[in-house]
Amino acid sequence: MIPEDYLRRLPQLLSQLEARLSATADGSGKDAGTSSAFAGTPGSAPSSAPGIDSGEPASIHANQGSLGAGPAELDEALEALVDRLARHYPFHHPFYAGQMLKPPHPAAWLAYALAMTINPNNHALDGGPEASHMEKEVVQRLGRMVGFPVDAIGHLTSSGTIANLEALWVARELHPGRPVAISAHAHYTHQRMCQLLRQPVVILPEDEDGLPDPSRLSPDSPLPGTLVVTLGTTGLGRVEPLNRIAAWAAANGVRIHVDAAYGGFFRLISGSGLLDPDPWDALPGVDSIVIDPHKHGLQPYGCGSVLFRDPSVGTLYRHDSPYTYFTSDDLHLGEISLECSRAGAAAVALWFTMQLLVPEEPSTPDPTRNRHLGLPQILADCRTAALRLYDELRASDRFQPVMKPELDIVTYIPLTSERTCSAVSRASAEIMKMGMDTASGQDRLYLSTLVLNRSEAERWLPGLDIDADQVRVLRSVLMKPEHLHAVPDIMGRLARLHEKYLAG
Ligand SMILES: Cc1ncc(COP(=O)(O)O)c(C=O)c1O
Repeated sequence: MIPEDYLRRLPQLLSQLEARLSATADGSGKDAGTSSAFAGTPGSAPSSAPGIDSGEPASIHANQGSLGAGPAELDEALEALVDRLARHYPFHHPFYAGQMLKPPHPAAWLAYALAMTINPNNHALDGGPEASHMEKEVVQRLGRMVGFPVDAIGHLTSSGTIANLEALWVARELHPGRPVAISAHAHYTHQRMCQLLRQPVVILPEDEDGLPDPSRLSPDSPLPGTLVVTLGTTGLGRVEPLNRIAAWAAANGVRIHVDAAYGGFFRLISGSGLLDPDPWDALPGVDSIVIDPHKHGLQPYGCGSVLFRDPSVGTLYRHDSPYTYFTSDDLHLGEISLECSRAGAAAVALWFTMQLLVPEEPSTPDPTRNRHLGLPQILADCRTAALRLYDELRASDRFQPVMKPELDIVTYIPLTSERTCSAVSRASAEIMKMGMDTASGQDRLYLSTLVLNRSEAERWLPGLDIDADQVRVLRSVLMKPEHLHAVPDIMGRLARLHEKYLAG
């Protein structure tokens, strides 16, 4: 999973970093190491990293003794560790085509591993001086990606849920008493967080295509203070019509918060012809945006983000911390964040990944080049994989897609002799189970399922006898570029699982 090229650099980078930090501690920092921990070539590391013999005070080495385990115990514990970890589903594999899960990019892993040895805390410049500056830089880049003005503010969070919580809290503070309006397909945590905030919620009416349409709100219902629009819904991967909703919101004095936790990075390819650009083009005008780098930004978990177009929102966060904010008069990120401790390593990993793989401006992936195309190409491959699978499902006599994917999430039903919701639900559940638990090697396939309600079944699955309030459908999130070439094989596995299911 981690290519040799990345793996073999880690020990050397670790010793360079340790040497430079130790030199800082003894006041000789200027002379130590190379000018950058990343600038070394193999062999350029200091010949011996500061250690037991380096003449440093004994207190530094207390740590070595406190590791407290002998080599035999270590071996045994490591064996148990690998055994436990290996019980996971193989998220890195193209035949894992289930939930929104994949390992981080090796670049994120490398930077995180290095930064974690320092363990910066981006609550304050006291705890993560450089990592906080790196976080400010990535927030600026995310802001540029969505078209926000340069003075927009924001920060990383531990998750999309916490990032949305902050945006909903700001929504409540700015329009106390007015409801927040969300679509029926908004992530479930919006209702949960509004409950926490004692913030009333209304569910937006839908148009014929199942998309939220605020113009259909009853004139008797209270005017929402903020509308939540999702670019990349969790279940179906839909991109809600931000352009249309924004026009209504502007005419009615309503704020807009965009939950682009899943879809945000697709902004990088919104001009490529692979997506409808209109909702993405409306992003610069919204009030706040959540984007999760730990979804499509190639990061490990623990990396969400929230951005606010109007920097004056920062005053809502005003608070006193008697323990921190002493080392600098610059903005400490804790001053504009609801969380206190946050992993500086998450900011460092995202900073490095963006340096390496994310262009400054949204760009068109160039299929004629095959190297170093970075995140835009990864996203384009995922999107193309989803369209391919959709085409194959449409052509198949065993499956039927629920709808054309709008990003890289594909939903579909197995065809059953009995054309009822309950028969489809049974088949979906059983095919998923067989693929993940009992299928042999060449039929293994990891899928997920999604529950649609009665009216969604009527809308998207015409011809199905609605004999139940719900129907369970199959769902594949094709969020790895490796999925692109695996689509024919995924389809073959699906067909064999279906055949076995029908054979009982
Ligand atoms: C659209 C959307 N919003 C919010 C979330 C919650 O994010 P997290 O799981 O990082 O808390 C998700 C998670 O899947 C999501 O898809």
